[in-house]
Amino acid sequence: MHRKTVFVTGAAGGTGYAIAARFARENYNVIIGSRREEKAQMAAARIAADYHVEARGYAMGVLDEENVKEIFADIKARGFLLACLVLNAADLGIGQEGLAVAVKDFMDVINTNIVWNFMLAREAALQMRELGGGSIVFINSNTAYRAIPDRIAYSASKSGALGMMRAMALDWGKYHIRVNAVLPGMIKTARWENNENGCRNAPSNFTPLGDIAAFEDIANAAWYLGSEASRNTTGAELTVDGGNMIQLYPVIPKI
Ligand SMILES: NC(=O)c1ccc[n+]([C@@H]2O[C@H](COP(=O)([O-])OP(=O)(O)OC[C@H]3O[C@@H](n4cnc5c(N)ncnc54)[C@H](OP(=O)(O)O)[C@@H]3O)[C@@H](O)[C@H]2O)c1
Repeated sequence: MHRKTVFVTGAAGGTGYAIAARFARENYNVIIGSRREEKAQMAAARIAADYHVEARGYAMGVLDEENVKEIFADIKARGFLLACLVLNAADLGIGQEGLAVAVKDFMDVINTNIVWNFMLAREAALQMRELGGGSIVFINSNTAYRAIPDRIAYSASKSGALGMMRAMALDWGKYHIRVNAVLPGMIKTARWENNENGCRNAPSNFTPLGDIAAFEDIANAAWYLGSEASRNTTGAELTVDGGNMIQLYPVIPKI
């Protein structure tokens, strides 16, 4: 059987790499996007060796429409059409205190998380229409609904991306293209492990399930929404946050 192809942005490491590996495990060919060519190629080589699928890395120029078009043209020229796009890369916009943030920095977050993702989703949708259908998965955030300090642009971008996701789902359903979102809470990234910005002590670590997401939890959710397992689901949100968002306030255990 002809293998399907998935493209994961920001997939040279961490959450994105785990998503790419999850699809490779299911015998998908994998395309890795990274702002650094070398990192993209190394991650692709590792996926190809570990899972015996075809894998390619692409250097991505953020908000560079020509670069986006070139990447998709190259994918097609090599005989692939995307069955799935996972939009994982994001400008996290950390530490943007609202009264002090430069408007340019604010705009970078919005432009990266909304406009760049629109460019990528549109090129992917053109290939999926040709293929007869496909699935686009936004890695979003529970901060689309619940604010955290000094992240106004990030929260706005994630809320906006959910609106965009639903509108795409509505418009592209007729091409059998599904568009959905995973909403992680805190993830056990290197930032969390190293406690950068006080990550490990943040109230979002205290969840009803007593844990936060590992990379594999986000990868499994992306696989579900990206694959035929969710074939009748579009415009939907899947929260993966240990139940964090259902709380009025986190119950912090006494140590
Ligand atoms: N970490 C969390 O606790 C958490 C919580 C909720 C939601 N999320 C969401 O989950 C996804 C993955 O999160 P993560 O923490 O694993 O993210 P991350 O490692 O900070 O970013 C993912 C990738 O995006 C690329 N990237 C980073 N900054 C960028 C920028 N300014 N412009 C363009 N690309 C950029 C990087 O790839 P290259 O350097 O290789 O280009 C990076 O590997 C994101 O969409 C994030 O919003 C994360």
